Amino acid sequence: PNVAIIGVPMDLGADRRGVDMGPSAIRCAGLEKSLLNLGYQLFDQGDLVVRRHAATASCPSPQGVGSLKYLDEIARVNGELSVAVDHAMQQGMFPLVLGGDHSIAIGSLSGVRQHHEEVGVIWFDSHGDVNTASTSPSGNIHGMSLAVALGHGDPKLTAIGGDFPKVKPEHVAIVGARSLDPGEKAYLKQRGILVFTMHEIDRLGMSRVMEQAIEQVSRGTSGVHLSLDLDGLDPGYAPGVGTPVPGGLTARESFLAMEMLSDAGVLVSAEFVEINPILDHRNQTAKLAVSLIASLFGERIL
Ligand code: ARG
Ligand code: MN
Ligand code: MN
Ligand code: MN
Repeated sequence: PNVAIIGVPMDLGADRRGVDMGPSAIRCAGLEKSLLNLGYQLFDQGDLVVRRHAATASCPSPQGVGSLKYLDEIARVNGELSVAVDHAMQQGMFPLVLGGDHSIAIGSLSGVRQHHEEVGVIWFDSHGDVNTASTSPSGNIHGMSLAVALGHGDPKLTAIGGDFPKVKPEHVAIVGARSLDPGEKAYLKQRGILVFTMHEIDRLGMSRVMEQAIEQVSRGTSGVHLSLDLDGLDPGYAPGVGTPVPGGLTARESFLAMEMLSDAGVLVSAEFVEINPILDHRNQTAKLAVSLIASLFGERIL
């Protein structure tokens, strides 16, 4: 089993600078060693080039003039990511994408869609990321990427890798939600998207939640993509994220989720996004990400 690592040092989709350093932080936390120990062959393709230009001058960024901030560069990079994921899968490798802000899910899902007509998605996140230009409170594209994958958003984004929706609403499960904008709540309800908020996780427990989530995203699909935003975890465990939201998942719940997903044997690709080393403590969040990745790739306690 071969793994292709694709870094995307993107932070234009978020207001706070710094998540562009995520790929370095994850590599520094020992990703390669940990996957080698599990018996994988690694092909680290390095990082895509992101032109950060004006964005780096301001921390956080100024309000964008248009409604979608840095649309053109985000679209360009996601186009390249889509091709990189596509190529990795063509070569029989498992694409492991390192973010970068969550706007990169647009390219990842577009790439996976070239190989699976029906793609399941586990969206592990405190947010829904289903805003559109008309509902977004921020203009930040990292809050829109799931909607784009579902076919709603600026044509420069929805057309990447082909002008059709990359994912169907019934093949998506969101896990860990606790911060949804009003327009996102309406969007999710209207389409009947399965959302396990913290409420369901507390009531049912992560074990039953993941059983149901995996069942939902596997039914009628030929492969499942994990899109894991580190802010799904509680900031107590993952302080180094761009948009922390209190009341989140514990490390234990998150490890269980990775183990169950791994045991289900349906995963074809994954991405780990939104790590912001500037806000982190001694790379704790990236180290946690590497441990979660190890669980996802089969590491077990015993
Ligand atoms: N809902 C907010 C917005 O649209 C926050 C999105 C945060 N997304 C993320 N991937 N961290 O701006
Ligand atoms: Mn997100
Ligand atoms: Mn988030
Ligand atoms: Mn179906």
